[in-house]
Amino acid sequence: MNLVVVSNRVAHGKANEPMTGGLAAALLPVVEKSGAIWVGSSGRVRDRMQKEPFAEIEALGSGALALLDLPAAHYGGFYEGFANSALWPALHSRSDLIRVSQNDYRSYREVNAFVARALLRFLKKETVFWVQDYHFLALGAELRELGVTEPIGFFLHTPWPGRGIFECVLRHRELAEAMLAYDLIGFQTEEDCQNFIDYLRSVPGLKLNDDIVFSRHGRTRLAVFPIGIDAEKFASAATKALTHPDVSRLRRSLNGEKLAIGVDRLDYSKGLINRISAFDRMWTQEPALLRTVSLLQIATPSRGAIEVYGKLQSDVAKLVGEVNGRHGEVDWTPIRYLNKGFGQAVLAGLYRAAEVGVVTPLQDGMNLVAKEYVAAQNPADPGVLVLSKFAGAANELDTALLVNPHDIEGMANAIALALAMPLAERRMRYEAMMRKLRGHTIQHWFAEFVEALQACRIDRSAGALVRIGATPLWSMRSARGGVRFR
Ligand code: F6P
Repeated sequence: MNLVVVSNRVAHGKANEPMTGGLAAALLPVVEKSGAIWVGSSGRVRDRMQKEPFAEIEALGSGALALLDLPAAHYGGFYEGFANSALWPALHSRSDLIRVSQNDYRSYREVNAFVARALLRFLKKETVFWVQDYHFLALGAELRELGVTEPIGFFLHTPWPGRGIFECVLRHRELAEAMLAYDLIGFQTEEDCQNFIDYLRSVPGLKLNDDIVFSRHGRTRLAVFPIGIDAEKFASAATKALTHPDVSRLRRSLNGEKLAIGVDRLDYSKGLINRISAFDRMWTQEPALLRTVSLLQIATPSRGAIEVYGKLQSDVAKLVGEVNGRHGEVDWTPIRYLNKGFGQAVLAGLYRAAEVGVVTPLQDGMNLVAKEYVAAQNPADPGVLVLSKFAGAANELDTALLVNPHDIEGMANAIALALAMPLAERRMRYEAMMRKLRGHTIQHWFAEFVEALQACRIDRSAGALVRIGATPLWSMRSARGGVRFR
């Protein structure tokens, strides 16, 4: 099999480079091992149509990384426009933030069509395409237009919202219809999958038979594949990171005080204002906690060209300033606020140094920071995860302290509870979460999806034999005994 993985953002093979977003960082180790070709945006644009659209093709593990310069005329309408000012807010149930034009939609479709044409270069007899995320909802349909009959799968890393919200997206019906050109569509949670089914049943009025939907493209299978992490690898990275200069300096600076940590892209879906307000509330209602715990909030700037992100950046900075002004002392700063990214290897050490991990998004597909925080803990003396019930991760990490991020007082109480939690309870919660993380790793997720994609195609060709290459990663069966279909 010749696997081609496609995502807008890709990662280079350097473990210590800061990476924006969970998708690229999560995919890197598995794609590297699999021998797949990973196609994505180079981050640059080009003015004129190119004969050779790939800016660079470089080795990545036993496969390759192929970077595309996207068309300049459509990039803004695609990335800042339709993908991040229509789809992203809608997928995170913020239809009030949708700002988009018909031109943005055209650019989105142009970029999807452009990437489809570029992918033909990798089309061989046994090619399987696996497309990632909301930037490319229509890529499968564009590939089919070009005559591609090979298996094409799609995985959505974000949530899928309630039916009424997706209906706010311009040309929603056309987009959902285009998605059904995929053989397999994967979601993070049952709820996301169910929301998509509700939409298909009630808006285009399509028929479903269990997990199969029938459309003019044929059959599409809908299934749930919660993304995981390599928990063991992350745990050993956390141990190693203890001697990293950034981590040792942080620990020294704490002077015995406890630390809470938050690590997020600066995005309105992450609930940063609510989280900082909860710390403010906690210090106000329990002054005994002043000087005994501080918050390290890493907020990596993101999508700065979009107005709402610029506003968020100044709102968060202003609030941090107010809280520090209110509670700080000449020798104590309640919130250490950083607008930069860190590599995974350092992050692992920062997580381990923190007694509390605060992961409190208003909506999130999965949120791998939650999983990484748990994996980074010292098993003998683990920290406590305070987790939003609206993060996909809450389905598995149900022994975290689950909170409603809209309830500021409830969050303040949960953080205080986490700080005071006895060791036996911390260990019990940590061990239960680690069992889940070990039982379903990123390797399982990758293997299960590829296996399910191949199975869909076998179904479609009515039992025709599809030869599967002997590749270690996707020939591996899941520890849970196979693919989880709905
Ligand atoms: O769906 C999640 C995701 O793909 C993450 O990888 C990342 O957080 C985000 O969406 C994309 O962010 P960016 O616009 O920086 O590529």
